[in-house]
Amino acid sequence: MPQTIAVIKGDGIGPEIMDATLKVLDALDCGFEYDVIEAGLGALEKHGTLIPQASLDSIAKHGLALKGPLTTPVGKGFSSINVQLRRHFDLYANVRPAISFPGTRSRYDDIDLITVRENTEGAYMAEGQSLSEDGETAVASIKTTRKGSERIVRHAFELARAKGRKKVTAVHKANIIKSSSGLFLDVAREVAKDFPEIEFQEMIVDNACMQLVMNPHQFDVIVTTNLFGDILSDLCAGLVGGLGMAPGANIGKQAAIFEAVHGSAPDIAGKGVANPCALLLAAAEMLDYLDMNDKGTRIRTAIREVLESSREEVTPDLGGSGTTETFANALVAAVSR
Ligand code: NAI
Ligand code: MG
Repeated sequence: MPQTIAVIKGDGIGPEIMDATLKVLDALDCGFEYDVIEAGLGALEKHGTLIPQASLDSIAKHGLALKGPLTTPVGKGFSSINVQLRRHFDLYANVRPAISFPGTRSRYDDIDLITVRENTEGAYMAEGQSLSEDGETAVASIKTTRKGSERIVRHAFELARAKGRKKVTAVHKANIIKSSSGLFLDVAREVAKDFPEIEFQEMIVDNACMQLVMNPHQFDVIVTTNLFGDILSDLCAGLVGGLGMAPGANIGKQAAIFEAVHGSAPDIAGKGVANPCALLLAAAEMLDYLDMNDKGTRIRTAIREVLESSREEVTPDLGGSGTTETFANALVAAVSR
């Protein structure tokens, strides 16, 4: 039976980059069927909700979604759809590869690392937030669980094994936040024993920031808690030329949602100049996830080839003079060779 993928085209530049991405997937003969579902501003206007039940049902049924960026209306009491989706499907692993490509504003050549961020607990969730009546003191708590730590570290090691990676670095602050970060580190050490062929390294988060900027090639897979992962993964995107090239995946047992890291880019929406690479690289991650790694690799190779050979076809954010469509056509030609 063909694999069906729930497709959320998204808001702003979403439909433009999604069309480009699906064109490349079709050129690769992936044999997918798509269930195009609604979410975001479009869904709000039509159905009065940012994420209709039918869309949630489709993701639940197929277990797989490719998602364009969504606009969450500001100041109208709506909570982020991305956070809602993470909660609804318990998508505990946020996986963000950072790969350097030629012709981008990358600070280094040949960076190829993956951050695996815990997505459901920790300081980022800031449970029990309160502000004292006099407004002088704010309090929030950090909850870290053995189960939450174990499943994220295991995910990182299994990903490393599946992708032939050599090393996993657990990033923490266990020297200071002994309870919560300490528990995460203890669990990481235990889980590491189950993967003797993969080197295990520990690093304190402030040092990790410096090391990433000065010597990023030492890293392979980084696993860390929610808030540190939020910050470190953006740092890594900055190392490889920014948002236009950064894919992400939110993965749980019930579903996996693949997306670009960037937003709906209202400033360039409708102009046909959005860079489709981040979403296309997310689709490549989805292919790897489905054990179709050869096709995922073909996408990454095609992006590399087009960036190396042409400035006319690529989009202006990469210094080119092309459009989303010329870029997509060049990528279709490259994967078809
Ligand atoms: P943004 O990522 O949409 O845009 C930041 C800057 O990067 C803009 O100048 C934009 O033109 C540029 N940019 C982004 N993607 C690009 C691409 N593919 N090609 C060329 N240039 C690109 O961030 P911003 O402006 O903070 O957010 C806009 C909206 O997106 C907000 O409503 C926000 O809530 C939403 N958002 C959604 C996300 C998601 O669905 N995963 C993630 C981040 C933001
Ligand atoms: Mg972030």
